[in-house]
Amino acid sequence: MRLIEKTAEMAALVGQTPVVLVPTMGALHDGHAALVREARRLAGRRGTVVVSIFVNPTQFGPGEDFERYPRNLDADRETCARAGADVVFHPQAAEMYPPDASVSITETSLSQLLCGASRPGHFAGVCTVVAKLLNLVEPDLAVFGKKDYQQLAIIRRLVRDLNMGVDIRGMETVREEDGLAMSSRNAFLNETERGQAAAIRRALLAADVSLPGDELIAGVTRQLGEQAPLGKVDYLELVDAESLERINRVADRPALLAAAVFFGKTRLIDNLEIKAISS
Ligand code: PAF
Repeated sequence: MRLIEKTAEMAALVGQTPVVLVPTMGALHDGHAALVREARRLAGRRGTVVVSIFVNPTQFGPGEDFERYPRNLDADRETCARAGADVVFHPQAAEMYPPDASVSITETSLSQLLCGASRPGHFAGVCTVVAKLLNLVEPDLAVFGKKDYQQLAIIRRLVRDLNMGVDIRGMETVREEDGLAMSSRNAFLNETERGQAAAIRRALLAADVSLPGDELIAGVTRQLGEQAPLGKVDYLELVDAESLERINRVADRPALLAAAVFFGKTRLIDNLEIKAISS
């Protein structure tokens, strides 16, 4: 497996097709490994699997966890190699963002909702870096996890609206045994917080989707309050699975129950996809 740290070297690489990209910020866990294995499957034996590892400064707001975001390139390289990657692309921030960089990409609709409402500028940072990675790697496909459901929806929109010829694939969330969605941020939780964090998944699964939205949300909030008293809900919303706009009831379109919960300074997200209920 090859390590590439220079953007020019990455751009010059002509990998055997299909080239499949897995963009990450490192601190790789089993969820990332599953994305890389899926990329390997999609690329086949002959294709090229590229994993990018870049803690992107532009998607962190002031006071967020950019500085303390876990970084461990050696362990990440091993995880990538074991999961079947051909290339790890690990660019430096100074090269990705020259000091006079003055262009960024802003998605103006989906980015206003859910995480975007509490993290202004976050998705502009994500769109900009993902566009840069797609330009540098020129993959045929790119694989993202569905834990970051909103991010996946925004990237699909980015690729559609900017006519980028890449196929975006979403992969199911990988979970710990107790249901907690795997996330690099789980490492920040203390033992008590970690125990309570699994309640997010239980509460989402227990939602009574036949209820009107406000009652459904009240039920989930109550359960979370009982089972995870240390958790502070940032948002808990029932939304249309495509537009991400809030809805009053699950009806004839797929819906999403999306949550962000703080444990101390650590913000965890999770979601539940809900099938349309035909009348
Ligand atoms: O999901 C992530 O890890 C990041 O947001 C991404 C897509 C790699 C962009 O920095």
